[in-house]
Amino acid sequence: MSASVDPNQYTVKHEPYYEAVGDEIALYEAAYSARMPMMLKGPTGCGKSRFVEHMAWRLKRPLITVACNEDMTASDLVGRFLLDKDGTKWQDGPLATAARMGAICYLDEIVEARQDTTVVIHPLTDHRRTLPLDKKGELIEAHPDFQLVISYNPGYQSLMKDLKQSTKQRFGALDFDYPREAIEIAIVSKESGVDEKTAAKLVQIAHRARNLKGHGLDEGISTRLLVYAGQLINKGVTPLAACSMTMVTPLTDDPDMRDTLNAAVQTFFG
Ligand SMILES: Nc1ncnc2c1ncn2[C@@H]1O[C@H](COP(=O)(O)OP(=O)(O)OP(=O)(O)O)[C@@H](O)[C@H]1O
Ligand SMILES: [Mg+2]
Repeated sequence: MSASVDPNQYTVKHEPYYEAVGDEIALYEAAYSARMPMMLKGPTGCGKSRFVEHMAWRLKRPLITVACNEDMTASDLVGRFLLDKDGTKWQDGPLATAARMGAICYLDEIVEARQDTTVVIHPLTDHRRTLPLDKKGELIEAHPDFQLVISYNPGYQSLMKDLKQSTKQRFGALDFDYPREAIEIAIVSKESGVDEKTAAKLVQIAHRARNLKGHGLDEGISTRLLVYAGQLINKGVTPLAACSMTMVTPLTDDPDMRDTLNAAVQTFFG
């Protein structure tokens, strides 16, 4: 990527379907108008990424998403010199591209990145709004429309893997969770194509399973998995097989826990 990257390729062209669960759209709009860096907290598959896509579309900003992992280096975000036949050429990383372009940059699962990687976002997320490209000897002044958004799953981090307070305290934050019943039914039905009656059963099974979190399950059944179940049912798979494939087998290998979950499925689809 160079300074002349076409923002069009990052534009969200069609409205991503997002069912609001509260006043998160207005709150995010206010945060964006202050160009406040934002942290979206919540369990896997509850709508954080979909929300960012929707907001980028609403705010008409390009969206650059980076999936973070522990092997990621600062250069992966900021950029590096590459060798080509004419010698060395600087290539902006996604964060530098977003800062120049005025995009929303979404760092997904930031907690996975090492701390020496995470600190590169510090000067971008305070009054400076700059990104130093140390190797190149350049200081990027972020475009006025640039915003940084990170996601964070509060269930996952250990003492070894958590964001430093000096990172956390650069962000405003919104809590996300599985939507309340009526909204989740609407989402599952709309996203998978099953009728509301079937979607309601899937949601009720999820409610039972979510009570098992901390009692043998690390995470509840996500909205994403309910959509998967609905999609298989919509393809003609029997509800029992569809639920087993999407709402039981991915979650746990413990035979007792699988029995418990399958029993919940049986109650609604048996
Ligand atoms: N409020 C919502 N409106 C519309 N769809 C939703 C909503 N919440 C969840 N979904 C559905 O759930 C799926 C998973 O949501 P998403 O990918 O945004 O989860 P996530 O919170 O980013 O999870 P992860 O932390 O694993 O990345 C979406 O693809 C969508 O089908
Ligand atoms: Mg996501």
